[in-house]
Amino acid sequence: MSKSTDELFKNVISHAKEYGFVFPSSEIYDGLSAVYDYGQNGSELKNNIKTYWWKSMVQLHENIVGIDAAIFMHPKTWKASGHVDGFSDPMIDNKDSKKRYRADQLLEDKIARYEKDGKKEKADALQTNLDDALKADNLVALRDLIIEHEIVCPVSGTRNWTDVRQFNLMFSTQMGAIADDADQIYLRPETAQGIFVNFLNVQKTGRMKIPFGIAQIGKAFRNEVIARQFIMRMREFEQMEMQFFVRPGEEMKWYAYWKEARLKWHLAVGTPAEKYRYHDHTKLAHYANAAVDIEFEFPFGFKEVEGIHSRTDFDLSQHQELSGKKLQYFDSEINQNYIPYVIETSIGLDRMFLLTMINAYEEQDLSEGDKKDSRVVLKLHPCLAPVKAAILPLTKKDGLPEKAREIMNRLKLDHNIIYEEKDSIGKRYRRQDAIGTPFCITVDHQSLEDNTVTIRHRDSMLQERVAIDQLDKIIGELVSWKNLLAK
Ligand code: GAP
Repeated sequence: MSKSTDELFKNVISHAKEYGFVFPSSEIYDGLSAVYDYGQNGSELKNNIKTYWWKSMVQLHENIVGIDAAIFMHPKTWKASGHVDGFSDPMIDNKDSKKRYRADQLLEDKIARYEKDGKKEKADALQTNLDDALKADNLVALRDLIIEHEIVCPVSGTRNWTDVRQFNLMFSTQMGAIADDADQIYLRPETAQGIFVNFLNVQKTGRMKIPFGIAQIGKAFRNEVIARQFIMRMREFEQMEMQFFVRPGEEMKWYAYWKEARLKWHLAVGTPAEKYRYHDHTKLAHYANAAVDIEFEFPFGFKEVEGIHSRTDFDLSQHQELSGKKLQYFDSEINQNYIPYVIETSIGLDRMFLLTMINAYEEQDLSEGDKKDSRVVLKLHPCLAPVKAAILPLTKKDGLPEKAREIMNRLKLDHNIIYEEKDSIGKRYRRQDAIGTPFCITVDHQSLEDNTVTIRHRDSMLQERVAIDQLDKIIGELVSWKNLLAK
């Protein structure tokens, strides 16, 4: 990471804390590694991202419905899905620092370094060898690559490595009072399985016809060994997943459809297209016959935000086998019973949150001549902004607060609005810029005479005088989901 991008990322993290977006979990006890809490503005932004996803997936598709499954599931679920036996990462320890690393990530970092240093051939060759080793589950080859490319432990600086071993990422706990093996259950490592086990319930009660989808937003838990890059890799995080059930043989058509549709969703909020790229998987997960990541260019390089996977009939077949219950669909159009194939779209809400913050964050120098000035502004899409407008009486007297509250009470029926009367108008503008509020509405003495206010736009900082009656329309149009969803 170059100094400036490194600094930018650090600034975004401290901004997120300073302005109530993200706090370290249980901070008064010095935090809990890779666990974070969302504050007053963070939870609003997060909810808005969820709303955007839910509306785009469920509301706009008549053949997609949503569910909310429990986090705890029957332990056989995870046997069937392959997570008990196969949900592990290749880990390597440095004997001097006693630190543990994901072997594949050490190698990915090396590839990124080669790329940064213009050593394209070396980067490509290592990528090929890494893909081959991962595909073959060859742990010895992974270690050999780490040695061959002289990768050192970032803490001890030595190359004193252990063998590479597999490490299961699921958290387990006990259900009930008696602790024996039969009661061991897991915190779900993905939300998808809650959808699979409810496939027939939803299909029958919703009289769904293939192709159809089931969407869900919820928490997932992974005992990530390497916790780093803020909310990029967490132990408790949130996923927004959709399983799209299709006729066997039609999965590639739908895979292509969702691959394009999901990238479009990302771009519609105004993120520049060059910040995104597709990354096709060469090593496919045990359940997939095609997979692609949508990657975003974070300050630490292009990283996965969302995965689109063609999961075949793997999950439903496995659940059918382990539960002994038929999980088939009768397709009346072709007069056939079959286990549907599945295309999955799976996006990490926290990663989407992080990219939204990074993309919106701007440090601006507003100095004019000798007059020094600057601001930090979050140029969030208005639909995603935590607060839509701030109502600011110019002074705390002369009836201005009363007039401001009158406006506030009307607007808050539709939007999340803030009222602020402390500090100078300039300072109040800056505070709102810092949390991404698209409008500041200033109530002054003229407002009492002619029922007009000043409306100041976040990005341009331009101000205009408008009738109070116009406010609903002006704000309503800019923060309208309708305009965003129509894209
Ligand atoms: N159901 C498929 C599945 O879970 P995944 O690629 O393991 O696939 C999907 O996860 C998305 O969940 C990722 O693209 C990422 O955005 C997010 N994600 C995965 N692990 C995460 C973690 N430890 N912290 C934050 N987000 C994570």
